[in-house]
Amino acid sequence: MTVGSVLVTGGTGYIGSFTVLALLEADYKVVIVDNLYNSSDEVLNRIELICSKRPIYYNVNITNEAGLNKVFDEHPDIDNVIHFAALKAVGESGEIPLEYYHTNVYGSLCLLRAMASHDVSNIVFSSSATVYGDATRFPDMIPIPERCPLGPTNVYGRTKVMVESMIEDLVTAKRNAASKASKPAEGAKWNAALLRYFNPAGAHPSGIMGEDPQGVPYNLLPLAAQVAVGKREKLLVFGDDYASRDGTAIRDYIHILDLANGHLVALNYLRDRHPGVKAWNLGTGTGSTVYEIVNAFGKAVGRDIPYQVVGRRDGDVLDLTANPSLANKELGWKAGRSIEESCADLWRWTENNPQGYRQQPPEELLKA
Ligand code: NAD
Ligand code: WQD
Repeated sequence: MTVGSVLVTGGTGYIGSFTVLALLEADYKVVIVDNLYNSSDEVLNRIELICSKRPIYYNVNITNEAGLNKVFDEHPDIDNVIHFAALKAVGESGEIPLEYYHTNVYGSLCLLRAMASHDVSNIVFSSSATVYGDATRFPDMIPIPERCPLGPTNVYGRTKVMVESMIEDLVTAKRNAASKASKPAEGAKWNAALLRYFNPAGAHPSGIMGEDPQGVPYNLLPLAAQVAVGKREKLLVFGDDYASRDGTAIRDYIHILDLANGHLVALNYLRDRHPGVKAWNLGTGTGSTVYEIVNAFGKAVGRDIPYQVVGRRDGDVLDLTANPSLANKELGWKAGRSIEESCADLWRWTENNPQGYRQQPPEELLKA
């Protein structure tokens, strides 16, 4: 017995794979489309090992509208989409902007068109805290509420704002058309959650599922993990001259299991409450500095992580901490796991899978 069917784009990636796990555990049928640009299909085996269910998987590019239509044709029961598939490297987005607009914006357009032509009317979209840009430009906007004006400072962030607008425009048009046709119930079917996440961290506590980027990582914790397993000599700390308690920049690190669960509760909210378009911040509400993270991860590893302070990274801002009270209140959702848990789970994953999904984890983890 399933409670509903969901198409998950980018479902073999980091956040997508954990959300697929949460959906399967909640008895959703899950169909993934992902072209494995930044992921491995080995994750399907790990998901099955953990929850004894396997998602259906299609190797389809999100920019292939005909391919997406075929997936919807083959699964007419799909009535929801969670849309993760995207390129996500901020620095790279400024170097190859057209690739980012193609995958993130045109890909989303293809998906929305395929959804509209199949009357699939609920979408949960992976947006990002990066849509806010530098919220410290407003005196009372830290921690950042959803009403903070958007102001992305990079190409990647602009693609997210564009897709948020496309989704909002589509849902509004569908709802308006239905009310003009005196069929408000038809319009109420169209709903969207724009989930603006802060900094995802951690791995599955089993040690067999985690983040496995295909290229060079650029996020703080995956880089610290590479230092801990000896793939890098030291971590570079980008600036210790910020106006923070220790001089390093502040971010809101959210455990991947809490983030995945946020998608499940947002989807259920759309299905139960038909709210139209809603944006929710998914974060803990507590900021940690780079030094605090490096220390917490060192504790999890059992030794200090060597680092060197270098200049600020272009485009970085002092503080990106979420005000998650809207999601706490409306979704009944809270990111309860601590940064210590994120670090311990990340280390268990990294220590046991230094080659990510390209190697099998130790037998004892598979049996546990
Ligand atoms: P990820 O790279 O692990 O996952 C993205 C997935 O999309 C990958 O599996 C990749 O293979 C797939 N993909 C890429 N291009 C594709 C295409 N053309 N067709 C089909 N599949 C394609 O990244 P993630 O960290 O899991 O991020 C998931 C989503 O969340 C992205 O939209 C990202 O922008 C957003 N996001 C990520 C973070 C973060 O820090 N990780 C923060 C906020 C928002
Ligand atoms: C965290 C902190 C760095 C690496 C990015 C995107 C954002 C979202 C999450 C997708 C910062 C510092 C980092 C290093 C360091 N992704 N740092 N040395 O920049 O907060 O957010 O990922 O939507 O959009 O911008 O994350 O992990 O790169 O950096 O000192 O080697 O760690 O300066 O203060 P960021 P991050």
